[in-house]
Amino acid sequence: MCGIVGYIGNREVQPILVDGLSKLEYRGYDSAGIAVLERERLDVRKAEGRLANLSEKLDKRPLKGTIGIGHTRWATHGGPSDANSHPHTDMSGKFSVVHNGIIENYMELKEELMGKGVVFRSETDTEVIAHLMADLYDGDLVRTVRALIGRIQGAFSIGVITEHEPDKLVAVRQASPLVIGAGQGENFIASDMAAVIEHTRDVYILEDGDLAVITAEEITIMKAETGAPAQRKKLRVHWDVEQVKKGQFEHFMLKEIHEQPLTLRNTMLGRLGRDDQVTFEGLELTDKYVQGIEKIFIVACGTAYHAGLVGKAAIEKLTRIPVETDIASEFRYRDPIVTDKTLVIVVSQSGETADTLAALQESQRRGAKVLAITNVATSSIARDADYVIPTVAGPEIAVASTKAYTAQLIAFYLLAIYFCQAKGTLDDQERRDLVRGLKELPLQVEKVLENADEVRCFAESIKDQKSLFFIGRGLDYAVALEGSLKLKEISYIHSEAYAAGELKHGSLALVEEGTPVIALVTHQELYEKTVSNIKEVKARGAHVMGVTGEGNMDLFNAVDEICFIPQASQLFAPILAVVPLQLISYYTSLALGNDIDKPRNLAKSVTVE
Ligand code: F6R
Repeated sequence: MCGIVGYIGNREVQPILVDGLSKLEYRGYDSAGIAVLERERLDVRKAEGRLANLSEKLDKRPLKGTIGIGHTRWATHGGPSDANSHPHTDMSGKFSVVHNGIIENYMELKEELMGKGVVFRSETDTEVIAHLMADLYDGDLVRTVRALIGRIQGAFSIGVITEHEPDKLVAVRQASPLVIGAGQGENFIASDMAAVIEHTRDVYILEDGDLAVITAEEITIMKAETGAPAQRKKLRVHWDVEQVKKGQFEHFMLKEIHEQPLTLRNTMLGRLGRDDQVTFEGLELTDKYVQGIEKIFIVACGTAYHAGLVGKAAIEKLTRIPVETDIASEFRYRDPIVTDKTLVIVVSQSGETADTLAALQESQRRGAKVLAITNVATSSIARDADYVIPTVAGPEIAVASTKAYTAQLIAFYLLAIYFCQAKGTLDDQERRDLVRGLKELPLQVEKVLENADEVRCFAESIKDQKSLFFIGRGLDYAVALEGSLKLKEISYIHSEAYAAGELKHGSLALVEEGTPVIALVTHQELYEKTVSNIKEVKARGAHVMGVTGEGNMDLFNAVDEICFIPQASQLFAPILAVVPLQLISYYTSLALGNDIDKPRNLAKSVTVE
């Protein structure tokens, strides 16, 4: 969480920083600020709330200069306010710091500094860095930052500038992402390459413990602890700049929902051979290793966890390898039974989620191999995992995840087939049927999207409801969980997902006249059972929207409204069933006038525990 950007070069820095922050706002949007060095004088502007508030301040009092740092915040220590916004400065105003992460020993450092007469102006952990820099400064910024790193504990990426040495910008990475953009006579730092690709396609990804000294002409990377040079590969980014723009869509979320036919195709591209064999380029899982797997754990957070629930079903059904799913923040603290015969699959769109990364490291410590399914091939999770399957969804900007989820499902389906090939548990015909079904999905999603207006009226009708239920059995339940999360996070309407048969064991008491219930009925073999559960809620006055496969016309008799999705095999139906739920969340929030791409209290990349 929090986004950092920095620039050093010959151009006016303010618009570059503000534009960079606009690309990083998804990481946090409680407040924003920039610090600029002009003729060896540091000046700072900050504003609580969205970046637009900062821009307004800057319009009135612009900052001039060609070196600067900026920050967009997701509050951890201290609420959103001007005072708690970054950049933070020391008492003399000569050092300015932006920080993403948490300084765990900040209280201890704060007391020490206060004992020396330092007066703190914010409640943040970050402010200690600025004061400590001033306290430790010995005439050499790099040496001082290295000394600072020896004093602070926790997860951080930091950018520092100072009036004392106005020709450089120093950046450090420790367990929080940071990239350096290498330009011509100008260089950049950013939490995510999205903030720099308009200016340069050449980036260095810093690794944990790296310190970078950046001037307009040069980038020097070393290990912060020893000062030894660190060789990092210069990477060329091939993202399309348009991908990080909204284009014709009102919101990134709607754009990303509509991109799904393409992102599903891209995630399959090159992975289905002529003979319908699944291959993953560069994945070195040997058949012998796969044959020896005794158990699989799928570990993730939020939407990625929900993808894992579908992944479990796919792997168990096709390979018969037992799979356990776990929420990453729980997994690492519950002494999981993980051995060298366990494969742990972590799923993460961003590849930076702190809990998921910690689960990965804990699994490796226990001797397991870890396979990552991630959308960011250069992320911490991708780099630490033993094996990586990239999803090819392109940058996902809206906080509510949509296209990353469906791409994760594709990755799981392909992986399950791949395991079967290694184990020899699927005959050719079964494999061909599965692959045919997979290939049909992008077109089928297009069809669902063509009927988006069908769910729009329903979405508008629930906007004033206090509470709502999603019900389903089997994989429909997994999709119900995702639909419920999506609705909560952007509409702020309370909702719960239930395994349809479980409702009567307590929660049915909450259903009353007019309670909206979204019932997923795509499991043909569980069809009658789910219909019985629908009747139970209808009998208590619920207003039911059914989501079902085309052809199930008789569901009309059991529900009030209906949304048809194309018929697909049970395993693949979640990809189709989730799309109307994504649209319902979107249109409900739109009707409520919410900030859809940046819902309250949330951030896209959760890099704190
Ligand atoms: C919900 C959402 C979150 C993320 C979760 C994990 O729409 O986006 O629940 O799925 O924070 O994030 P990643 O996948 O980046 O690890």
